[in-house]
Amino acid sequence: MRRIGVLTGGGDAPGLNAVIRAAVKRLIREGVEAVGFTDGYKGLVTGDHRLLSLETISGILPRGGTILGTTNRDNPFNFGGQDRFADCLHQVQSLGVESLIVIGGDGTLAIAHEMNERGLPTIGVPKTIDNDLLSTDQTFGFDTAVATATEALDRLHTTAESHHRVMVLEVMGRYAGWIALASGLAGGADAILIPEIPFTLEAVGRKVEERRKAGKHFSIVVVAEGARTPDGELVVKQTVAGSHDPIRLGGIGQIVASRLEEMTGLEARVTVLGHVQRGGSPTSFDRILATRYGVAAAELALVRRYGRMISLRGNHVQDVPMEEAAGKVRTVPVDGDLVAVARALGISFGDQP
Ligand code: F6P
Repeated sequence: MRRIGVLTGGGDAPGLNAVIRAAVKRLIREGVEAVGFTDGYKGLVTGDHRLLSLETISGILPRGGTILGTTNRDNPFNFGGQDRFADCLHQVQSLGVESLIVIGGDGTLAIAHEMNERGLPTIGVPKTIDNDLLSTDQTFGFDTAVATATEALDRLHTTAESHHRVMVLEVMGRYAGWIALASGLAGGADAILIPEIPFTLEAVGRKVEERRKAGKHFSIVVVAEGARTPDGELVVKQTVAGSHDPIRLGGIGQIVASRLEEMTGLEARVTVLGHVQRGGSPTSFDRILATRYGVAAAELALVRRYGRMISLRGNHVQDVPMEEAAGKVRTVPVDGDLVAVARALGISFGDQP
């Protein structure tokens, strides 16, 4: 019987289980067995796995996280300082697994690409709440993160208005401002600060003042965790030893809030949304996208078309060479449609003289 492996890597994202479910269902309908490696690439190195039957995947469509144990940022090419690729190859061969569907972000897919080059056939599925993967218009998980951040902005609006405060919401996104931009638009922010557009706090303060003069005694600012300070510094919360992506961003929101309070005389408060953006049930959009991605990945595996990543272009699901996306970051185009729409509404990016 043919066997195909499934693995999730990197940070989790709402919709991971929906991809797993769709891929497994599609494979089983063709009489192919699905094997899930547990705990990301660690399971591949050690051989920890479970058979994914229809019972195993029952009820997981709306569930956050991943049923494949913890997802993590392990790297088999540098696993505790050692290259353990030979172990991965051995595990896959001894289980009779012919290829692997790897669900992950840029780091995970870069590893999957290298594995494919070195003789372990892989297919990639683009996952991340950050939406920062090249060669796809959207990753699954992003829509849910934006919905969560938007809800937070709606709630911040009413309390900001009641207290005449400046409310700063720090959102995730790593080195890209997609979550900040999309939630800022959906949640009616007055200023959006993203890594792609250098800002000054004077310009943001002027926006707050402008609103106050117009009778609006509160303002809402969304800041991406990867936005640099006006001095050009990234604000790093923590460095995680042994991770292939060791930098954890965080803290820019507090810097922005403190400075705006000093400048405007209005009280400012910061909310750091954090991992709330990654947890919980996927939106219906993400469930559908993840399901389409899972089916497409299974279909590539069935016809043994390897080294490809599933991708969304417009409303069309297709596949592209994995090396186009692997290890590369897609940032917000500063002259793109969303930035233009925000500017047309008078939303400040903190860059106006
Ligand atoms: O890539 C997803 C993401 O949530 C980023 O937005 C964030 O910077 C990072 O992961 C947080 O990583 P961790 O879960 O290791 O704290």
